[in-house]
Amino acid sequence: MKIVKSISVLRKVVCSLKRRGKTIGFVPTMGFLHEGHLSLVRRAKKENDVVVVSIYINPAQFGPKEDFKNYPRDLRRDTRLLRGLCDLLFIPSVKEMVAQESRTFIEVRRLSDLLCGRTRKGHFSGVATVVAKLFNIVAPDAAYFGQKDAQQAVVLEQMAADLNFSAKMVVMPVVREKNGLAMSSRNVYLSDKEKAEAVVLFQALKSAEHMVAAGSRDTKKIIRTLYDFISRTPSARIDYIEIVDKKTLESVSTIKREALLLLAVHVGSTRLIDNTILKVK
Ligand code: PAF
Repeated sequence: MKIVKSISVLRKVVCSLKRRGKTIGFVPTMGFLHEGHLSLVRRAKKENDVVVVSIYINPAQFGPKEDFKNYPRDLRRDTRLLRGLCDLLFIPSVKEMVAQESRTFIEVRRLSDLLCGRTRKGHFSGVATVVAKLFNIVAPDAAYFGQKDAQQAVVLEQMAADLNFSAKMVVMPVVREKNGLAMSSRNVYLSDKEKAEAVVLFQALKSAEHMVAAGSRDTKKIIRTLYDFISRTPSARIDYIEIVDKKTLESVSTIKREALLLLAVHVGSTRLIDNTILKVK
């Protein structure tokens, strides 16, 4: 695995790979890797000649009161986990990625203002902008994202289509701990007790799936049941529970064929998100 820190070196390597007809699979990350990230890297390896992984903690997607400074970092461990899976590891510094004061930002309208966008102002603009920059540097044939960040995946698919990026966008299922907790780099913030209590998110998703399987279609009713269920966990504070259309992310009142259920819940001081697709069979 080759480690590259500079944009110009990465561009040269990519150029020479392309000249030789190699396809490039790209997995953008912020590091502190877990099995969720590795599932993306393995899939990228299966579908492409060369896999590029980036590790870049993007300041532009953190709000002023968010955890940019404390975001977990362990480059040595990440490098070890990627050996044998990844061909090129791109780890640019903030200075390399933001060489001058940026005046250009991508705004994916409407999709960025809903759900997490209500409390995380500017977050999805930061995400879309950095991913567009990375696409321009890496020039991937395919890019891999996790369904865990369902809204991010929808925003980025829209951005890639609107700006005519040619990369195929692949979204992979949520990877979970044995008890159902969705894997996330931020789980490291949870105490053992909070980690056990955080399972309430997964349990809530499952209970909604059961309600739909048993014939419930009224989203208000389902959401109310989940509010009551999650509120029984002392360390949990609900940010939102919403059932929306998978593409537009607009709320739906009745589940027709399928709908996306998303949760954002603070467990202690850690904000967790999770989601599932509710399907009518
Ligand atoms: O999902 C993430 O880790 C980040 O939002 C991403 C896509 C790497 C952009 O910084």
